[in-house]
Order: sequence, then C-alpha cells, then structure tokens
Amino acid sequence: MNSYQSSSEFARKMDLCDPLASMRNQFYFPKINEKESLYFCGNSLGLQPKSTKNALLQELEDWKNWGVEGHFHAKNPWFPYHKIVTSSLARIVGGLDSEVVCMNTLTVNLHLLMVSFYRPTAKRYKIIMEFGAFPSDQYAIESQVRFHGFEPNDAIIEIVPREGEFTLRTEDILAAIETHKDSLALVMFGGVQYFTGQRFDMQKITSATQSAGAVVGFDLAHAIGNVELELHDWNVDFAAWCSYKYLNSGPGGVGGIFVHERHADRPDLPRFAGWWGNDEATRFEMKKGFRPARGAEGWQISNAQVFQMAALRSSLTLFDMVELPTLYAKRDELTGYLKFLLDRIIDDFPQLSYRNITPETHRERGSQISLLVGKQGRRLHNYLTENGAVVDWREPNVVRIAPVPLYNSFEDVFRLCEMIRAYSSNLVL
Ligand SMILES: Cc1ncc(COP(=O)(O)O)c(C=O)c1O
Repeated sequence: MNSYQSSSEFARKMDLCDPLASMRNQFYFPKINEKESLYFCGNSLGLQPKSTKNALLQELEDWKNWGVEGHFHAKNPWFPYHKIVTSSLARIVGGLDSEVVCMNTLTVNLHLLMVSFYRPTAKRYKIIMEFGAFPSDQYAIESQVRFHGFEPNDAIIEIVPREGEFTLRTEDILAAIETHKDSLALVMFGGVQYFTGQRFDMQKITSATQSAGAVVGFDLAHAIGNVELELHDWNVDFAAWCSYKYLNSGPGGVGGIFVHERHADRPDLPRFAGWWGNDEATRFEMKKGFRPARGAEGWQISNAQVFQMAALRSSLTLFDMVELPTLYAKRDELTGYLKFLLDRIIDDFPQLSYRNITPETHRERGSQISLLVGKQGRRLHNYLTENGAVVDWREPNVVRIAPVPLYNSFEDVFRLCEMIRAYSSNLVL
C-alpha cells in the first residue's frame, strides 16, 4: 500500500475494509482515565481475550468437582493437557505436531535445549549471537558457556551492527558464521530482535550454520504469532518462545519449544529429564530408567501447567479462526501505516532528531517499530500514557510501538501518531 493518507477518514476507511476488524471485540483493552486505551504493547504483554476467564473457570470448576480424577475426567482432561495447544502452535511455527510442545517458560527452555544442543568440544565451542540480545538470553548463554568450562569473552561472538547502523546485515551474520566455522558449536539468534524490531533471515542463518557443521537455535519471543515461520522446512534444529506477547496467554504464560523431526528419535541426546518427558506408555510404571518420549515431548520435565495452558488455549482458539496470511497481510498494512505517519513526524520535526531504527521493508520486520527519541523520550512516553496510549519504553532512548493485527485498528495508529505530533509541536514552540 503506497497511497496512505494522514487523516482519520482514511484510517476509518481502512478499518471498514479490514477482514479482521471484528477480532478486536474478542479482547479487553485496559482503561486509562476511564477510557479505553490505545494499546500498542502487544510485543510485551498481549491483551486478555474475553474468553480467557471462562477457560480458567472451567478448570477451577473441574478441580472443584473432580479433584485428582480431573486428570482423566475434567472436560479437558489434565493428563494430556499440554497436547491441547500442539496443533495450533505447530501451525504458527510451521512445524509438525511431533516437533512442538508447550512447557515451562522461555529462559528455562533455552537452557534445557542448550543442554541438548550446545555440546562444545575443545575445538568447537563457540556460540554466535546478536549483539544486544535480550539480557536473559545473554545470561543464559554466558552461564551455559561457563558451565562447560569456557570463558564467555572467548566463546561468545556477538555480531555488532556496522558503524552508524542499528540493525544487522544478513551478509555480516553469514560472514561471521563462515569466519568461525571451524570453532563454531552453536548459533543462537533471536527471530525478531526485541529492541530494534529487526526480523532476521532465519532460513539463511540456518542453512549457513548447518553448512558450517554447527547447530542453530532461535529465540522466538518476538517472532511467534508475529511473523511467518517455517521452522520444519527451514530445517531449524530447535527454538523456544514465550506466549505472553503476540500469543496473549497472560503474564508469565507457558512457553514452548520446537525440536526438529531429525532429532525426534535421539534418546542418546543428553537432556535434563523429568517424568513428563518419559514415554507415555511407561510413564506411570514408576520404574528406573528414563525413556524419552518421541519428538519435542521428550524434553518435557514436569506435568502440565493447566491454568497457564488454559489461558493460552483460549487465545489460540482465536488464532485458529484466522488465516495466517490474512493476519500477516494486515500486519504489513498496519505497520506500514504507522511508518508512513511516523516518517512525516520525523520530517516535520527535524530539531527533535527522531529516528526510526526498525528496518524499512516488511520482509525485515514484524509488527514493531522502534523510534529513537533522544533525551526527551521519557517525557514523550509519559505524555502518551497520560493521554491514554500504552507504548513501551526501553532504556536508554527508544519507544517501541507495536500495532497488533489481531486487535489494533488503523484508527488506533492514526490517533497515536496525532498524539506524538501534538507533543512534538508543543516541544518546538
Ligand atoms: C527475547 C526475549 N528473550 C527472553 C525473554 C525472557 O522470557 P522469560 O522471562 O519468559 O524467560 C524475553 C522476555 O520478554 C524476551 O523478550
């Protein structure tokens, strides 16, 4: 779409043509000053689906009525409860059902997967990651490296943007993989970068890593439910995600993993085991000797977190109602509109030195645009909050704005940008 207009009439017209417009009614929008807010923080915590409360009440009711028997007699029996979201997740990540399971939380899962897939040797021990990755990933990777007796400064290679740039060039990522190919054990990258909103070329990174004889894993916190994923076809070794962002499962929601089918029948892979990862057929024999279940389920440790999974299920039911290409097409229109309006503000107020640091093309981003706002940024963020818009502030100087195609409208985007414009006009007066 290259004929955007900066007017509320135009935004409303876009909303009228939006095939997903009615999905908005499935969610609660938080209120600020008793008015429904303009919510742009779905990249941090997705909104609550209206159906979530009943999904949780159902489990409470079944617990009340069945006690332990709920494992088999609840409306949705708890024994196989984790399977209830498998197909929906598999569709979103582009995996087979056997490659996907929901469990634990993101950083925990990154550790568990690195236990299996970061197997350093004296010669091959290095990990390539992006510079400025989310701190939890940095800590997880550093601690894994130390756990194996290596020094993070030596073993971790962070790929840094070029001078004056904010995002990484794919060619630089591929070149680093090539340079370190003899000592490389693992490439552990984000799918979408949390700070800049850059979407990485996961397919190219995967193929280059595997040609170098190393293993590749992705942190999909900002990618799942946001960008196209074909993990199986791309041949990705493993991935992990959280579900409280674009998947709307609520605070601390249950995470999930993908392990490629190639590793499905690998009981020899070292792992930190627990009874829920044991083959279902013998799980309750309570015998010695762990026999991992086939596929991703073999990485489970504990029994299903039913309440968290119930919340996730209620949101995934909404995803199931939507064609993913339709969702992603709206994402591009909506984010394109945000970019169009922000570009005008950037041009109209050069003295404020705003800068969009998210890549220019749809292919290289998802729903998020990160606006570098300089020293006065905190005040802009506060102004937006006081006026009823929820955006995300990231130290030291970035406002992250994520219009989410499942529930945001073009009018939301227009009204937010009018607020940013009004604030900017006041500043320069
Ligand atoms: C990219 C990324 N990695 C890791 C985490 C940490 O997730 P958790 O607290 O669920 O382990 C987050 C949280 O926002 C994140 O955005």
